[in-house]
Amino acid sequence: MGPGDLNKALAGLPFISDPNLIMGLERSEDAGVYKLTDEMAIIQTVDFFTPIVDDPFTFGQIAAVNSLSDVYAKGGKPLTAMNVVCFPENMDLSILNRVLAGGLDKMREAGVVLVGGHTVSDPELKYGLSVTGLIHPQKVIRNNGAQAGDKLILTKPLGTGIISTALKGGAAGEAAVQRIVRSMSTLNRKAAELMLEAGVHACTDVTGFGLLGHCAEMVEGTEVGMVIDAAAVPVFPEIREFIGMGLLPGGLHRNREFRQHMVEIDAGVPEYLADILYDPQTSGGLLMAVPPAEAAALLKKMHRADISEAAIIGEFAAAPKGRIKVGVTNQVKPA
Ligand code: CO
Ligand code: CO
Repeated sequence: MGPGDLNKALAGLPFISDPNLIMGLERSEDAGVYKLTDEMAIIQTVDFFTPIVDDPFTFGQIAAVNSLSDVYAKGGKPLTAMNVVCFPENMDLSILNRVLAGGLDKMREAGVVLVGGHTVSDPELKYGLSVTGLIHPQKVIRNNGAQAGDKLILTKPLGTGIISTALKGGAAGEAAVQRIVRSMSTLNRKAAELMLEAGVHACTDVTGFGLLGHCAEMVEGTEVGMVIDAAAVPVFPEIREFIGMGLLPGGLHRNREFRQHMVEIDAGVPEYLADILYDPQTSGGLLMAVPPAEAAALLKKMHRADISEAAIIGEFAAAPKGRIKVGVTNQVKPA
């Protein structure tokens, strides 16, 4: 199923409206939010996928971090989680034990309590979490609240899809894999805490639709557009080499087909950089619209908190409204 297919599948369904529903299926949001009282709302999200690394414990960590990310992106505090597991009948149960241990490790780090789960037999191993969190109903951060002039901050480098593809193709070395594993298994909790202190207008996390796919969600149907400096976007080393070898994930092409009508890429942007901007990410960073007066200080705090690759990668502008312009205003960084 590609991007856009979900919208087709949901088309015409009689969704249930409720005055307490703060965030639902009406637009591409990261999580659902439902108001319980004037002071409290619950955030709910679910995510699970097939292994992208060989080690079961590491896979469990990454899947859990990825699932928790949507709660952080909305400004919420994750509280409880349930395991979602698909497991092959003939696979060794000790593998599942390691996957669940990895997930639990990150739940403990996040201060989240595991309260249950569900397992089904499936030819392919899959794992993730359904997460419930808490948030003040007035403090939910939407993906579409950006204002012209806001700076766009991205907190993790891009390229996990391309490096995973290179890993499957036997081209990625240990160092490249270690780098993406470290990034994918890092909680977005600290980045979210700093974001809440600074006060931001919008946020989402970068996952399967790639940077430009999630940028598109931030401007689609709004009064603002976005200008991205491709040279300022943090990317993992060696990406350029893997792209040169044709190691592009299928999802990258689907992401481009789905969103390219909203994107203008300057002729000066090298093709490999344009490719990276559509690379589907697993457990990617937060992407936030920060008031211009706060952006530099927030970035500095992130760097001090070991979110060392965080960068201002562009800004929101009155034009092109509802669209994204990608250029290169700095010297292109060697990749
Ligand atoms: Co998300
Ligand atoms: Co998600």
